[in-house]
Amino acid sequence: MKKRTFKKGGLLRRDFICAGASLLFSGFLRSFGFSGSSPVRVFSVADIHCDVCENEGSKNYRASLGKLKKAVSAHRSQKFDFVLNLGDIVDRNVSCADTALSELSSLGAPLKNVLGNHDFRCSPSGQRAMAKKLFCGGNSYYSFDCGIWRFIVLDSMGLSRISKIKDADCAAQTEMWISRVEGKPNSVPWGGGIDSRQLAWLESELKKSSAESRPAAVLCHMTAYPLSHASMFNYEEVGEMLSKYRNCAKAFICGHKHDGGYEMRGGLHYLALKSLLEYEEPTYSVLNFYKDKIVVEGFGEETPRVLMI
Ligand SMILES: [Fe+2]
Repeated sequence: MKKRTFKKGGLLRRDFICAGASLLFSGFLRSFGFSGSSPVRVFSVADIHCDVCENEGSKNYRASLGKLKKAVSAHRSQKFDFVLNLGDIVDRNVSCADTALSELSSLGAPLKNVLGNHDFRCSPSGQRAMAKKLFCGGNSYYSFDCGIWRFIVLDSMGLSRISKIKDADCAAQTEMWISRVEGKPNSVPWGGGIDSRQLAWLESELKKSSAESRPAAVLCHMTAYPLSHASMFNYEEVGEMLSKYRNCAKAFICGHKHDGGYEMRGGLHYLALKSLLEYEEPTYSVLNFYKDKIVVEGFGEETPRVLMI
């Protein structure tokens, strides 16, 4: 398994290949003073697009399951606090979701799903079936605590023309936002965002985190910063709210932008993780949430990083 060069912060600039990734990486972290309390440890994969449809350019949908199996088997002996699916687990066929979900579940840690636009690239009945598979406790957005951290999962299909299972109010807000972003890079037919009810819920979660002095990481499918075709319609509204609570909100971690991305904005790290679909090598990450930093172990083409908080 190829592990990428660890670059962020100029701590190390020589390449290394890591076969027994975790043990060696832990030793490496200790050598740079990253010892101390154990982190919340998360196996994370974005944009798997596991499917049986024909290839489209570089997108080999049928190869995704094999890459996922390879990634999972390389970490089977390790312990994770949870497994994170950052959305688009399938490309369009609902029937392909179960195999990928059971592969992720085989790591033996709770599986946390984030809803992606391709998860709803199907009929309304298919969307209801996907909702049953992916929602947590019947909800598309939810939060949970792990160690000292609070994880807040957003549903960027809250504002979306693709979703046929949302209410009339969300549909009306979607049309309003689509006209507002016209001519901007994020004006795309598959775009989405966070509806006003969900935004109010996000604020209540941030208020609680703030009162409890808990660092919070927001997990979402679509991106916010930097602005691109992958950014949510109302990325600025979301970003402003997160900055308002930057005493607790530390990072916004997402998928959707298959070649990844990073920006520090308003005191928060905005990190888009690369897609498993797009690269020949299994590309995914192990995220380590410490009290004062998030350490991203990158595999395949993912960039390793240390995000200080
Ligand atoms: Fe995707």
